Amino acid sequence: MSEATIESILQEKRVFNPPTEFTEKASIKSMEEYNKLYALAKQDPTGFWAKLAEKELHWFKRWGKTLDWQPPFAKWFVNGKINISYNCLDRHLTGHRKDKPALIWEGEPGDSRTLTYTQLHQEVCQMANVIKAMGVKKGDRVGIYMPMIPETAIAMLACARIGAAHSVVFGGFSSEALKARLQDAEAKLVITADGGWRKDKIVPLKDAVDNAIATDVPSVKNVLVVQRTKQDIEMKEGRDHWWHELKENASTDCPPEHMDSEDLLFVLYTSGTTGQPKGVVHTTGGYNLYTHMTFKWTFDIKDDDVYWCTADVGWITGHSYIVYGPLSNGATTVMYEGAPRPSNPGCFWDVVEKYGVTIFYTAPTAIRAFIKMGDEHPNKRDLSSLRILGTVGEPINPEAWIWYHKVIGNEKCPIVDTWWQTETGGFMLTPLPGATPTKPGSATLPFPGIIADVVDLEGNSVGENEGGYLVIKHPWPSMMRTVYKNDDRFRSTYWEHIAPKDGKYLYFAGDGARKDEDGYFWVMGRVDDVMNISGHRLGTMEVESALVSHPAVAEAAVVSRPDELKGEDVYAFVTLEDSYSESDELKQQLKQHVVKEIGAIARPGEIRFADALPKTRSGKIIRRFLRNLAAGEELVGDISTMEDLSVLDKLRQG
Ligand code: WTA
Repeated sequence: MSEATIESILQEKRVFNPPTEFTEKASIKSMEEYNKLYALAKQDPTGFWAKLAEKELHWFKRWGKTLDWQPPFAKWFVNGKINISYNCLDRHLTGHRKDKPALIWEGEPGDSRTLTYTQLHQEVCQMANVIKAMGVKKGDRVGIYMPMIPETAIAMLACARIGAAHSVVFGGFSSEALKARLQDAEAKLVITADGGWRKDKIVPLKDAVDNAIATDVPSVKNVLVVQRTKQDIEMKEGRDHWWHELKENASTDCPPEHMDSEDLLFVLYTSGTTGQPKGVVHTTGGYNLYTHMTFKWTFDIKDDDVYWCTADVGWITGHSYIVYGPLSNGATTVMYEGAPRPSNPGCFWDVVEKYGVTIFYTAPTAIRAFIKMGDEHPNKRDLSSLRILGTVGEPINPEAWIWYHKVIGNEKCPIVDTWWQTETGGFMLTPLPGATPTKPGSATLPFPGIIADVVDLEGNSVGENEGGYLVIKHPWPSMMRTVYKNDDRFRSTYWEHIAPKDGKYLYFAGDGARKDEDGYFWVMGRVDDVMNISGHRLGTMEVESALVSHPAVAEAAVVSRPDELKGEDVYAFVTLEDSYSESDELKQQLKQHVVKEIGAIARPGEIRFADALPKTRSGKIIRRFLRNLAAGEELVGDISTMEDLSVLDKLRQG
């Protein structure tokens, strides 16, 4: 986040109360109610969740102990039996919801589909039977590499139904990135599509899968291919199968597997501070409960709401708040394949108008892009159906917040700024729209049952408006359980940075924050080597590893620099091997190389050649200086630890 944004967030003093007309109809109507709920939960978080689990979810068998906490390992609803696909589908089939739209889908070229709960249930059962017939069993992992089409949600739910864990890989990741994830997850099957539409072009997903599994991924035995874009693709006999062909004879009856509450539901890879992305592990019962409750209260969901989250299913936001949270609540969830593009800058508002979207959830980077495209696009459409707006992914700058409030929300929609992470599974800090007065740029207060704080490295709470580390002090149902196959990395990444306080372990989120005089949290951004590019997490080390895998590169250091639209952009400093010389062409090649290794989101905005990188005497790159240089700022901090001061002079001269 840029210094300018931090500055403006620091000075933000405006407060917006929920409109009276909204509050009257809301399920949680006042701060008094929130405070009561929060106090109740704080007194006994475990009992609080147990009551809700009983009331809100279907269990085949009730659990014994609610929480088994052996820090940092938590088990929720121990020995309970549950199936999240049952909670998302079957239980809505008896009453009026059976014919209610579960999923409304709009394709980029303008095609569309609506699946009722009954229809979605049928398709999920069919896909579950198809993948079962391929030998996928409870406990196996399935890779999902898809565009934004209904079959993506169907594939996730089909896996959950038979007890296989899914690992969705964002369709914008390259085949190299896909390969690494499939290898780590040891996926048995990959579900993909021939292609997907993105900005009027076809993204050749199946080709990428072919490349990814051509060598060194022996675990993958089958590939199930959904037909979407219909261009020619290669189908390998015996390995690749068309979904539409197998579906024809697949039964629509598939009893849900009785899963243990702690059985693996999915592994989702996310960037950390090392080159290798980590597999965040989520299990079944706690994740189901927490995404259900946060969706229900944060979006004050009503039976006639039409809810739309613009994220991609490949990220946690898509998992928790396109698929599981909404469907568990029996809500109507909209899925859109496209993105605003020069040929159709108003496409988002068309979707809102066409389907009468009532709740709209997007990211600050998208809001900034809308501002740039001009008010005429939203102004031309009827957005009067909207009643709640949401944002996620990065701190929202107050100017963007105000624009969202005025131009999209017509000053009548509460804005819920939700702070959370892949690791947390669901919203941690968020307003409740009928209760919480909002302040532009603040994710406000913790969700009931969440004990959050801002502390120093010793775990002591810092003072009012003082900066510190954002931590969570009590386990919550959808917390990540571990890093896939790597308990040590789980422990060291999240539980050892901050000293345990009075024997209590604190979850360290990796974000810096402060708490204001009203107890509101202001999240300032990452304090580790994780960048936030257009709301997507990317490790500096990942991009560095990609760069040094190119033969021309001797050494690379990557930092982020503030960017008006993306929030942050990738800036790479590179030193070359002797036999290569600097050129613009080489810069382009290196950018392309990063795209090939990781994906388009990682493409460096700028590459700067250097003779040497600034290092400490012990050989550590001093990123602080590089960040200053990338942002065009004066160098901040002590330069006396530097090995060779002349390096800085050269870098300054560019
Ligand atoms: C950032 C996305 C400020 C934060 C759900 C976090 C935010 C990282 C917000 C997680 C917000 C997310 N305000 N910062 N409302 N939401 N972040 O795992 O730095 O892709 O640690 O999860 O995004 O990114 P992730």
